[in-house]
Amino acid sequence: MTTLITNIKELLQVRAISVAKVSGAEMAILPTIKNAYLVIKDNFIADFGSMNDVPKIDTDKIIDATGKIVLPSWCDSHTHIVYAGNREQEFVDRINGLTYEEIANRGGGILNSAKKLNETSEEEIYQQSKARLEEVMRLGTGAVEIKSGYGLTVEGELKMLRVIQQLAQNYSITIKATFLGAHAIPTAYKENRKGYIDCMLNEMLPEIAKNKLADFIDVFCETGYFTVAETEAIMEAGIKLGLKPKIHVNQFNSIGGIQAGVKYQALSVDHLEVMTKEDIMALKNTETMPVALPSCSYFLSIPYTPAREMIAQGLPIALATDYNPGSTPSGNMNFVVATACIKMRMTPEEAINAATINGAYAMGISETHGSITIGKKANLIITKPIPSYYQLPYAFGSNLIEMIIIEGEILA
Ligand code: NIG
Ligand code: FE
Repeated sequence: MTTLITNIKELLQVRAISVAKVSGAEMAILPTIKNAYLVIKDNFIADFGSMNDVPKIDTDKIIDATGKIVLPSWCDSHTHIVYAGNREQEFVDRINGLTYEEIANRGGGILNSAKKLNETSEEEIYQQSKARLEEVMRLGTGAVEIKSGYGLTVEGELKMLRVIQQLAQNYSITIKATFLGAHAIPTAYKENRKGYIDCMLNEMLPEIAKNKLADFIDVFCETGYFTVAETEAIMEAGIKLGLKPKIHVNQFNSIGGIQAGVKYQALSVDHLEVMTKEDIMALKNTETMPVALPSCSYFLSIPYTPAREMIAQGLPIALATDYNPGSTPSGNMNFVVATACIKMRMTPEEAINAATINGAYAMGISETHGSITIGKKANLIITKPIPSYYQLPYAFGSNLIEMIIIEGEILA
């Protein structure tokens, strides 16, 4: 099956030679081709270039993209889209004055979602989660990481990871699975946190590794959740079983989680709403991707990741949604890109780099995703006719997507 896209107004994120990630000043550069064509063969990008050189080839389908922008699909490297029910009551409680922390301390928050998850059947969780996955695919996401972490029991965590596995088997979108048993101390272990950590290390992890249910290991390293020492022990146990760490750090407090992540060569450290100068310096010249989640900052009214300071120090940044029922009930990467520009003062070029190639890096898939490069997956967004790609963050509430292609197939 060969598809030719012609007359593309501007083809974004064109990398003849793929890069793993872009950092610092490079983030301001978004390579593009104006008046371009692109050839898809089966599920891969086979060719692209200027319309002046459009090849004469046999095609099964031609898509005329006159006036439209084409870019690689968003790579959303941090989500929790497998969950049961919602937490809309907590949302209203926060409007009425309670804080996220106060709600959590009353047994709401993550423990509320854990209760719901453990009371819901695997099939029902699958049905709810698949609706969210289909929603984000229609919003332009072509690769997504999904975490466990609302089970907090052996059965609940395995149930979540099996749902993620089932989604990965049934959908063409690339899915990476992360074990986040260390999301909160469950009520049953309130007085025995060591007991819960032992349960994760001795019961959950071996079963997960045996059944290949996760690619990564995550810990919510935060005051009131997991300490730096506990985070290190959990990362170490995961690494022994082949799970690379990607961890939640610096959402509310800077307690040394970034330094721990760097020490254990975490693929990414995520959230970063509260960053000290030392935290920024600790990430310099490392392979760890800092991931910002601006929709979480927006929804909880907490600080935004200081992108300008980080980019000025030469760091890369990836952008992700954090789609989850408590802190970010939204999986819209278009909104994330716009919010990064509007609230974090990232330029459109920086934000698009952060949401494509750097997002791919933060899932360990930048060899196959995140740029227009021959041999990469044909995961594409075709916009409606728009004046320029600036519209993507500028018209922040509009749906500018006309067509989605995942693995070479047009999404119905
Ligand atoms: O990334 N911060 C930790 N975990 C999630 C939210 C958890 C929840 O409130 O359900 C996050 O924001
Ligand atoms: Fe998260």
